[in-house]
Amino acid sequence: MIQFILNDKTIATDLPAGMVLLDFIRYHQHLTGTKIGCREGDCGACTILVGEITGGELQYESMTSCLLPLGNVQGKHIVTIEGINFPGQLNPIQQAMADCGATQCGFCTPGFVMSLAGFCLSDKKPTYENAIAAIDGNICRCTGYKSIEKAAKKTTEIVEYRGGGDPAIAAAKSKILPEYFAQIKTQLSQLETAPPATRYPPLAVGGGTDLYVQKHDEMTHADIQFMFDKMNSIIEEDGKCILGPSVTVTDLKNSPLINRIFPDFQRYAKLVSSTPIRNMATIAGNFVNASPIGDFTIFFLALDASLSLTLSEGEGTRTVSLRNFYKGYKQLDKKPNEIISKIWFEIPGKDFYFNFEKVSKRTHLDIASVNSACLLTMNGDTIEKASVSAGGVGPVPVYLQKTSAYLKGKTLREPQGDKIIDAAIEIMKTEISPISDARGSKEYKTLLLGQLIKAHLGPPINTK
Ligand SMILES: Cc1cc2nc3c(=O)[nH]c(=O)nc-3n(C[C@H](O)[C@H](O)[C@H](O)COP(=O)(O)OP(=O)(O)OC[C@H]3O[C@@H](n4cnc5c(N)ncnc54)[C@H](O)[C@@H]3O)c2cc1C
Ligand code: FES
Ligand code: FES
Repeated sequence: MIQFILNDKTIATDLPAGMVLLDFIRYHQHLTGTKIGCREGDCGACTILVGEITGGELQYESMTSCLLPLGNVQGKHIVTIEGINFPGQLNPIQQAMADCGATQCGFCTPGFVMSLAGFCLSDKKPTYENAIAAIDGNICRCTGYKSIEKAAKKTTEIVEYRGGGDPAIAAAKSKILPEYFAQIKTQLSQLETAPPATRYPPLAVGGGTDLYVQKHDEMTHADIQFMFDKMNSIIEEDGKCILGPSVTVTDLKNSPLINRIFPDFQRYAKLVSSTPIRNMATIAGNFVNASPIGDFTIFFLALDASLSLTLSEGEGTRTVSLRNFYKGYKQLDKKPNEIISKIWFEIPGKDFYFNFEKVSKRTHLDIASVNSACLLTMNGDTIEKASVSAGGVGPVPVYLQKTSAYLKGKTLREPQGDKIIDAAIEIMKTEISPISDARGSKEYKTLLLGQLIKAHLGPPINTK
């Protein structure tokens, strides 16, 4: 039995835990305001909000209901467009969209309104940039976006008017959202939050953002082990950063530890998918999906991350280095019933330099043509240890072992710096095997990775 609150109504259902929420709300609850566009997480027409008590606070995140299994909403508050309506009048967010002419055919509108409602329910500062970031997963084919941007700007005034304190209570009190929002925290604390029981042999599901795109129809009746909740801590212990397998990209973005280690992390994360997908996409899911261009696989390869693999029946754990995890295209050193139970990496010492680069056809909301990460441990201006990874240049995500070994002991300062970078690029070419495909020819990808290595090894590192 799965229990959750849908708008202001408590739901208890025996429907398959693998069914996506979008089908449940449209076909079983007849709430058709949430639209079906791509069913692949790309368009945002199906955006809903998911509220959950975390650290004693009720927090809402936008998610795409087309990729969200019912098993992942156990004990949570689901808000659809119907759940933010006032009888007989528009709420202030809907009014802002209407006033700015931000809707034409209207198909995308519920998704935009829900993303902006999520912004009004967040503790983010009421800035224009934050309002625009909230709708980065929504696509409109009619308006040309300018009118939607104006409505987003108006939403910052709505957040200012809402004021501080618990955002859900404040939004209810100031009549931005219906009154029932003020009671949700109390109601949620009475619901079961444990994920549905696992049937064996199970298929692990994190956020579902790969699985539900790849095998949508099979997933409804699959035997699933829901991994999404409760294993998302990020802690520092004995010089290591230790992550739960269900840490999402948003968890990384919000982690003070991650932001302390990687001061540019916000810039990297912005290059990965969109807000709703970042709220769902887990790191373990990225590793096991084994895409040669998985952004966080490339990121953690450069950090020489390790994984704990645990038999899902709880019968033993072993450790594997991420660098040895990939055996061939989509082939892993992992038994079908092993799950990733922990991920960790050594926090680099004081004098280090880390960089992540991604080039895709569009800067945002696109998968990489080529991506690369680089960790250099420095001793003054000498590279004590180098670790360079690359994606999109072979059947598996690659750790560039020879290139990394070559850089050890080198200094990139002029006059020899450029020659060392050129030599590193030549060595890199012997370690990759790109193919020509929709994301570019093999020659282009080779050239691109060379440019990314220049970006890693150029300023500020060669001016140290
Ligand atoms: C619109 C859209 C945009 C995207 N953009 C990007 C992007 O920019 N960059 C990028 O890298 N990816 C992107 N992705 C892909 C995807 O979001 C990521 O790969 C994500 O990290 C997958 O995590 P998940 O939890 O959703 O995986 P799931 O779909 O839940 O699972 C993926 C695989 O991992 C396995 N798995 C999950 N958790 C565990 C575990 N703990 N132990 C063992 N196996 C496990 C599953 O069985 C499955 O084989 C995008 C996807 C979509 C839909
Ligand atoms: S239908 Fe397009 S994102 Fe869900
Ligand atoms: S108004 Fe038609 S898709 Fe946005």
